[in-house]
Amino acid sequence: MVDSPEQDRVESGDYSDREDADRDGFGPSTVQDDVILELKNLRTYFQTSYGTVKAVDGVSYHVKRGETLGVVGESGSGKSVTALSIMRLIPSPPGYIVGGEVILDGQNVLDLSDNEMAKIRGSKVGMILQDPMTALNPVFNIENQVGEAIRIHQNLKGQSLVDKIIHSLRQVRIPAAESRMKDFPHQLSGGMRQRVVGAISISCAPIVLIADEPTTALDVTIQAGYLRLLKEIQAETGVGIIFITHDFGIVAKMCDRVAVMYAGRIVETGDVRQIFNEPSHPYSEALLASVPKLEERTQRLYSIEGQPPPLFDLPPGCPFAPRCEYAQDVCRDVYPVRSEIDENHTASCWKLLDFDISKADPEELAAAQSVSVTAVAEEQLQEAEAVAD
Ligand SMILES: Nc1ncnc2c1ncn2[C@@H]1O[C@H](COP(=O)(O)OP(=O)(O)O)[C@@H](O)[C@H]1O
Ligand code: SF4
Ligand SMILES: [Mg+2]
Repeated sequence: MVDSPEQDRVESGDYSDREDADRDGFGPSTVQDDVILELKNLRTYFQTSYGTVKAVDGVSYHVKRGETLGVVGESGSGKSVTALSIMRLIPSPPGYIVGGEVILDGQNVLDLSDNEMAKIRGSKVGMILQDPMTALNPVFNIENQVGEAIRIHQNLKGQSLVDKIIHSLRQVRIPAAESRMKDFPHQLSGGMRQRVVGAISISCAPIVLIADEPTTALDVTIQAGYLRLLKEIQAETGVGIIFITHDFGIVAKMCDRVAVMYAGRIVETGDVRQIFNEPSHPYSEALLASVPKLEERTQRLYSIEGQPPPLFDLPPGCPFAPRCEYAQDVCRDVYPVRSEIDENHTASCWKLLDFDISKADPEELAAAQSVSVTAVAEEQLQEAEAVAD
């Protein structure tokens, strides 16, 4: 059960007593400079009977030690496929990582053999999935399941294995770990099960932890406790966290930086303050506008009109154009180039260049055009190149 101060905090939205809280509520950064994971132009496609689903189409982002990067976007934008690509857990067929690099601790994991990757999975990079019930096996007790990961990666046996299991369970604040570890998943509450999943993920001290909507299945009061726990573990271990969510409200409490994803691409990145105070992409703006106020919390998120486009049939140009109140002709024809708004703050939107293709950096323009380019766009691209020459 969650104690009442925590409930109060959730009810009031007051996180001011959070240990790392600072005055603007975003918390001071414990981030160190070293990049521990970097995605470069990652592309993961699925071959389906409808056609090629471009689930991840040129995604680049990075995570530093001790940092939390929020990856936010509506359902179907490619957040989980990106995460599964990092873990090399894309079912193949139908899925293929068709391009890019995933540099983990200086090494491109896409170059590793399956055996080498299996060693890294769970040791250097851990993952917490959305639904703890699918992550846990109902027929094994907690001791077995936490123990298995440790046994594989750390080669511990006997009492040292048991000690390590208890340590991991205590790290995720499971009370009476010695006795609880004999329980089976169905004997634990949803919140406790998610803590066990957390214990498995961190038991081998990963440098990167991917949390894919880890609190979506949890009751709202349990959510807050779990999020705080993740921050505490991060403060203790320095793990870099990729926090995937569709909920901008959680991003504000959890993240140092944000990558906003739409239709398989990152459309805006920046520090959490930059994105919250000055969203530069109309999609980020719309997502933020749809975050419910605390007093309206019963409403679900997302009142953005329309649906994301199907990823097997992307329109040329900006995939947000059919839903965007600012859209102009150029938006519908040419994928917007990335513009640098501020240090560490970028967004891909023609509005930032006054809808004028001649203002685009030619290299960025070429990099942006991997989706099918229409004849009109082709012409504009050539014109842009001519202007640049
Ligand atoms: N096994 C698969 N076969 C075909 N398409 C898939 C498969 N897995 C994911 N996709 C597609 O990839 C896209 C991105 O999915 P996903 O990354 O799960 O979205 P998100 O996590 O942002 O909600 C979706 O359009 C989904 O239909
Ligand atoms: S490029 Fe155009 S359609 Fe796309 S988000 Fe910007 S203004 Fe809207
Ligand atoms: Mg997902």
